[in-house]
Amino acid sequence: MNDAQNTVETAAAGRAPLPFVQRTPLIAGNWKMNLDHLQAIALVQKLSWSLKDARHDYTDVEVAVFPPFTDLRSVQTLLTADKLPIVLGAQDLSPEAAGAFTGDISAAMLAKLGVQYALVGHSERRQGHAEGDELVGAKAAAAHGAGIVPMICVGETAADLEEHGPAAIPLAQMLAAVAQLPEGAEFVVAYEPVWAIGSGQAASAEQAEAVAASLREALRDVVGDDRAAATRILYGGSVSSQNIAGFMSQPNVDGALVGGASLKSDEFSRIIQFRKHVTGA
Ligand code: PGA
Repeated sequence: MNDAQNTVETAAAGRAPLPFVQRTPLIAGNWKMNLDHLQAIALVQKLSWSLKDARHDYTDVEVAVFPPFTDLRSVQTLLTADKLPIVLGAQDLSPEAAGAFTGDISAAMLAKLGVQYALVGHSERRQGHAEGDELVGAKAAAAHGAGIVPMICVGETAADLEEHGPAAIPLAQMLAAVAQLPEGAEFVVAYEPVWAIGSGQAASAEQAEAVAASLREALRDVVGDDRAAATRILYGGSVSSQNIAGFMSQPNVDGALVGGASLKSDEFSRIIQFRKHVTGA
C-alpha cells in the first residue's frame, strides 16, 4: 500500500460510516472518435433491441452513450422517436458560454440536444490536448451551469503509479475539479488508470475498489457525507463482459466507463447486463 492511500485509510479509520444511499449503477459508453452519424444510429438501434430482448430495466442499471458531437442530433432523434431511456452524453465541451471560440461546443448547445452528461478531463484530452486541472474544473462548472452532470475523469499514468502509488494523482485531479463546482452540484467521477485504457490490461477489481474508496472518503471532506454517499464513482479502462461483474461487486464501484467494448452492441449489452453474469473477473 502506498503512502497516499495509507493516509486516507488511516484518516477513515476513526470516522463514522457514511449514510446508506442506494446508488443506481451507470454503464456509460465512450465512443471516442468512432462512428459517423449513420453508424451511430445503427449501433444504438441494435443496442436497444438487444436490451429489449433481455428485458433490461433501465431504472435498475442506467445506460448512457457518449457519441462524437456530429452524431448527437441523430442519436437524440432516435432516442426521442423510439422513446428509448438511453441517456445521451458528450465527450467534451467548452468552458466558455458563447462567442469567438472556433471549433468549440458550448454546454448550452449540448443541453439543447438533450445531453445529460459530459465527460471532462478524459486522459486523452489531458494528454493529447494539454488540458490541466484548471481547465477541467472550468469545463465541469460550465456543464453544471447548463444543467449537465459533469463526469470528472481522473487517473494515474504508469509513471505516476510507480512514483506516487495509485490514489494520489486521481485524488488531486478530482479535488481540483470539484473545487470549481458550486455547493450541492451533482457530478460523477470516472476513475480510469491511464495504463489500463485501451491496453487490454484492466486494473483488478480490488485495485479499482481501493482507489474508489479513497476518492469517496476524500469527497466527505469537500462535499459532505450525504453527497459523498450519493456520488457515483465509475471504473474505466479495458472493461469487458469478462471483467465487469468483478468491478460491479465492489462496494465503491458504481458503474463503468467503457471505451472499445461500447462500440459492439452485443458486447456492450452484455456489460450492461452484468447482474446476469455468474462469475466475475
Ligand atoms: P477502453 O477505454 O474501455 O477502450 O479501455 C475507456 C475510456 O477511455 O473511457
